[in-house]
Amino acid sequence: MDKLLITGGNRLSGEISVSGAKNAALPILCASLLTADTIALRNVPHLNDIGTTLRLLGQMGVSSEHHADNAMELCAAHVEKLEAPYELVKTMRASILVLGPLLARFGEARVSLPGGCAIGQRPVDQHIKGLEAMGADIRIEHGYVVAKATRLQGASIRTDMVTVTGTENLMMAATLAKGRTTLENAAREPEIVDLAELLNKMGARIKGHGTDQIIIDGVDSLHGAEHSVVPDRIEAGTFLCAVGAAGGEIMLRNAAPLTMGATLDKLIEAGMTIEHGDDWIRGMMNKRPRATGFRTSEYPGFPTDMQAQLMALNTIADGTAIIVENIFENRYMHVQELSRMGAQIDIDGHTAVVLGVGQLSGTTVMATDLRASASLVIAGLAACGDTIIERIYHLDRGYERMEEKLRSVGANIQRLKREAA
Ligand code: UD1
Repeated sequence: MDKLLITGGNRLSGEISVSGAKNAALPILCASLLTADTIALRNVPHLNDIGTTLRLLGQMGVSSEHHADNAMELCAAHVEKLEAPYELVKTMRASILVLGPLLARFGEARVSLPGGCAIGQRPVDQHIKGLEAMGADIRIEHGYVVAKATRLQGASIRTDMVTVTGTENLMMAATLAKGRTTLENAAREPEIVDLAELLNKMGARIKGHGTDQIIIDGVDSLHGAEHSVVPDRIEAGTFLCAVGAAGGEIMLRNAAPLTMGATLDKLIEAGMTIEHGDDWIRGMMNKRPRATGFRTSEYPGFPTDMQAQLMALNTIADGTAIIVENIFENRYMHVQELSRMGAQIDIDGHTAVVLGVGQLSGTTVMATDLRASASLVIAGLAACGDTIIERIYHLDRGYERMEEKLRSVGANIQRLKREAA
């Protein structure tokens, strides 16, 4: 397995181009199942999770063609297999996003249950509850969700909690249902807005996306469309935390600062200077960060996907930060690894108390999930000496060429390939 070797201490300086958002691209790729026409996409990031989704769609019969500059086309004119097998779903939970589109267009689907994952239980009961409310007959057989419906019917659905992929699955299913669907307690994430905008370009009739009540008037069929994926707010936030911890000044191009309010506010609180226009962000840090506590919550609150990275910044801050993780029950696995680098962190249930130390020291650490890996990179950039991060396949799931991008702004970071490692 590849590893990363980081020699800490370099200040960061220069420009980075932000990639398209993984969490917007995944449902958007699955939305191609809703029509027999071609969907043309731009700004699709090259990531392992995108590769997994294309394999999943490919084994169903969806054709995909890559073009230059992260553009691609998908066509689901000849779908033969209405199934998402365990082998693919177990590597990527977001595979559940094919359930709504398959059921809506073809009237049946067989999708493996994802099972547990490192950061928590993550059930899909709300996806199932919503589809049942729309008239689907759903059974769990041999670890698979087996769903059937002659035609989905519009329904009024209130999910028990705010769920991002749940909202996306139900919104996609409702586009082809008969009549009106109202999703109450809907997630408001920018990735949901991006998906809804694509669906509307395909002929769907969705309004209220970006609020907690989404109204979808079903149509008989959808058609092809072109769309550019929204910039990745988590990737951008990760690079800003890196400059916050290592010091320096970076300019992020192709960014979407208006989707990053909670993250930018916290970085300013930590002492960074942040400037931005519509599609760029400049982040500067020339001193030790200030401790900055936060609580994760649904958008527009502070994203759970930025918790580990802002915690890494806090490990070297002046003062003590109280962090509360409200979305996932087991999302502190980076704490043990950060502690091995000299961080002082106490965990009590959902709360982490981070006492900032003057300096971290490099050592060998292990990546445990995607954002935990990013926090170790940030810690490594700020630490003295060498940090080796093992199991970086987690990082490759969600960050496009991360080490190249960081090297281009002066970080001393290199990938040790499996044979050299
Ligand atoms: C998405 C994001 C992930 C992010 C998370 C929270 C994608 C591909 N992934 O994950 O990066 O960390 O939102 O912002 O977009 N829940 C249930 N039953 C359900 C659905 C969810 O109990 O049927 C619970 C989950 O266990 C969790 C909470 O609801 O505690 C929120 O999860 P959810 O928003 O669904 O996360 P994902 O959509 O899986």
